[in-house]
Amino acid sequence: MALPLEGIKIIDFTGVQAGPACTQLLAWFGADVLKVERPGVGDVTRQQLRDIPDLDALYFTMLNSNKRSLTLNTKTPEGKRILENLIRDADVLVENFAPGALDRMGFTWERIHEINPKLIFGSVKGFSEGSPYADIKAYENVAQCAGGAASTTGFWDGPPTISGAALGDSNTGMHLAIGILTALIGRQKTGQGQKVAVSMQDAVLNLCRVKLRDQERLEHVGYLEEYPQYPNGKFSDTVPRGGNAGGGGQPGWVLKCKGWETDPNAYIYFTVQEQNWGPTCDAIGHPEWKKDPAYTTARARQSHIFDIFAEIEKKLADKTKFEAIEYLRKFGVPCAPVLSMKEIAYDPALRASGTIVEVVQEERGKYLTVGSPIKFSAFKPDITGAPLLGEHTDQVLATLGYSGDQIAKLYQDKVV
Ligand code: COA
Repeated sequence: MALPLEGIKIIDFTGVQAGPACTQLLAWFGADVLKVERPGVGDVTRQQLRDIPDLDALYFTMLNSNKRSLTLNTKTPEGKRILENLIRDADVLVENFAPGALDRMGFTWERIHEINPKLIFGSVKGFSEGSPYADIKAYENVAQCAGGAASTTGFWDGPPTISGAALGDSNTGMHLAIGILTALIGRQKTGQGQKVAVSMQDAVLNLCRVKLRDQERLEHVGYLEEYPQYPNGKFSDTVPRGGNAGGGGQPGWVLKCKGWETDPNAYIYFTVQEQNWGPTCDAIGHPEWKKDPAYTTARARQSHIFDIFAEIEKKLADKTKFEAIEYLRKFGVPCAPVLSMKEIAYDPALRASGTIVEVVQEERGKYLTVGSPIKFSAFKPDITGAPLLGEHTDQVLATLGYSGDQIAKLYQDKVV
């Protein structure tokens, strides 16, 4: 069947992770995504953290599947003309250059809108227009720090901590994809394109909304009852780092299982769900706690929650993390094993669902990458390998009407 975004033409003028993650998602769902890259260089991630000499790095291949690649020097007059022609015929252009870079190239939003008023222009920057940091270049961790993630992640007696999840990069790309799809629907009504801008700071903050909630609560009541600091520790006037505490009304913690002394991931996450307290007491071998006032409410338990977690660890001490989960699920405890990346990479269920897939790139051969985390009932995205640098240059130029000789001249002049 035709994929939902089939027929949508996207100029992918992006690099590194935030922009490419956005356009890759749209490509999975059927959009024709044409990556525009600097001749001879390409997206910097082609060369970053290479595992095999001279081959595109996995950093690149796992963010650029299902795309085509055109090399184009957009600082040359002919390169600009080619880009203009592409813009005239496209539905979407996405970019995540350093602040001002696209303007310096001559492609301001106003100019792009003039060339093709129907085109949707998606843009990622570290900070929003008008921000005092708007001129700063940004990478993942810059955004995690500016968006509230770092100050609220880690332990209270340690420094602000960066998450391994790409909250600044891929998350911003996902926000931008939602914005672009919204603008495409808007265009059906108005016939007009528009600029869709997402800053990495804002996208991180959007995921840290519960911490903003906590800031407001703290200002109202002076404490946060689900944090380990309550009731025995002190609160300042800002949200503290809560270690592995649960972010909602259900306390939880990372607990040791059999083998933790040697395996850094022999842990589970255990949630003390309020409405499941009875079965939880049975699971951890303390049925008497069901009626003991020191245990019956979350507030009563909080002052000795770490003693409770220690008791649960004792109960789990003879179980591996997988055995612990098998045991606890019978009691309705919300829980999960802490899975290592190795376990995830070889997880048969994640492979079967298409969340992790093996694909082929011409020179690299087979490699592992992510598939769509979004599952549709009417289609399953078919993930293909990333393009080689300039793999589709001749094809695209021919479509634009260039003859073989003209294409050869463009190579000679280093336009492509
Ligand atoms: N042809 C000609 N020139 C090209 C080109 C092409 N096809 N593609 C890029 N360039 C040029 C740009 O115009 C720019 O030139 P200029 O500095 O003379 O204006 C130059 O290459 C560098 O561009 P840029 O990608 O912005 O690289 P950078 O190394 O300066 O900064 C980032 C990299 C990621 C820090 C920066 O792009 C940024 O802050 N982006 C916004 C936030 C973001 O998305 N961060 C990455 C998250 S994964």
